[in-house]
Amino acid sequence: MLVSASFLSSDFPPNDLKKLNETDVDYIHVDIMDGKFVSNKTMPFREMKNIYKFTDKRLDVHLMVDKPEKYIPLYAELNTEYITFHIEATDEVIENLELIKSYGIKCGLAIKPNTPVKDLVPYLPLLDLVLVMSVEPGMGGQDFIDDTTKKLEELRVLLKEYDSKVVVNVDGGISDKTKDKVKLSDIVTAGSYIIKSDDFQEKIDSLR
Ligand code: DX5
Ligand code: ZN
Repeated sequence: MLVSASFLSSDFPPNDLKKLNETDVDYIHVDIMDGKFVSNKTMPFREMKNIYKFTDKRLDVHLMVDKPEKYIPLYAELNTEYITFHIEATDEVIENLELIKSYGIKCGLAIKPNTPVKDLVPYLPLLDLVLVMSVEPGMGGQDFIDDTTKKLEELRVLLKEYDSKVVVNVDGGISDKTKDKVKLSDIVTAGSYIIKSDDFQEKIDSLR
């Protein structure tokens, strides 16, 4: 299992990013919130871009924003492997996926807990990743929604039916207690479980 670490719940990102850089974590999950698509707001790009000073891990950017087209060119400048935005956020899904690809970066679509997997079908040929939210987007430290297990099963059936090779990432409430519920995922994104601990590598190992 690949592990992506979210530092949304970090009290001091520079330190925690440096500590994560010393682990074997696969990606740094960068949560971006605009105060519109979700009510919380994260730091502006001029501060967020400093991530590169503290880690050389590849970034897995999760845009929880209304207008992905405003953020994609910015985050495309960083050491970014994936940029993912929400299918619920915009009517211009294809345009935004193509914008991400135009920078040579892999593109993803995120779905909220109440969004059915079948909504992804029109976009499957364009997608590199699907991010299944296992909590309502907007904040770290929430409880895992158990229905996610069924949703991952449905998604696997759908991906097989359409012969799709997209990577599946699951985000929200992931810990050693919930990891067995998301075995059908390729990547698990965990925030507070790692960041609020005093041994990042041990927590990462427990999710693999
Ligand atoms: C929630 C974010 C998640 C969150 C994960 O809106 O997208 O990435 O930071 O944090 P935990 O693991 O604490 O649920
Ligand atoms: Zn996230």
